[in-house]
Amino acid sequence: MSLSLEKLAFEHDHESQTDEEKYAEIAQVIESYKDKEGSLIMVLHAAQEIYGYLPPELQEFIARKMNIPVSEIHGVVSFYSFFSTQKKGKHTIRMCQGTACYVRGGQKVVDAIKRNLNVEVGCTTEDGQFTFEIVRCIGACGLAPAIMIDDDVYKQVTPAKLKGILSLYEDAEENIEGGADA
Ligand code: FES
Repeated sequence: MSLSLEKLAFEHDHESQTDEEKYAEIAQVIESYKDKEGSLIMVLHAAQEIYGYLPPELQEFIARKMNIPVSEIHGVVSFYSFFSTQKKGKHTIRMCQGTACYVRGGQKVVDAIKRNLNVEVGCTTEDGQFTFEIVRCIGACGLAPAIMIDDDVYKQVTPAKLKGILSLYEDAEENIEGGADA
């Protein structure tokens, strides 16, 4: 396949673009790729890069512009884990639900995260602060249960400790102390 991501020269700061500008940029990308083999994946990558994620209305827009059924787009987006239909939060919480974490009370921490942040697994809080994901192991089994927030690992987490940990991210956007051995 001769298409490559390098060809997609995204020079804009997408954060500061309006939705209209983002859609216009995506339309341009579609225009340059639409009749080429394998273009759908490239377009979806580009669209996610520009828009941040692939909500249903954007998938419909792409389907219309590319003249393909929206079901084909849904199929591709749900097949590949690197495509997301949810807007990612500023921080990503990854709760380990591997065996060690599970048997040492991981589920209680999962429930506490859901309760504290009013968020479901795989979703983002309404304020856009946190995305909550479940993972299988983060290599801290000896001190389970463990969670990761962005690149920081917190061990032996309990529902009681959780609030303090989350507060580091809720307020202080800069200078967060690494929690590697908390
Ligand atoms: S099972 Fe949770 S860190 Fe390994």
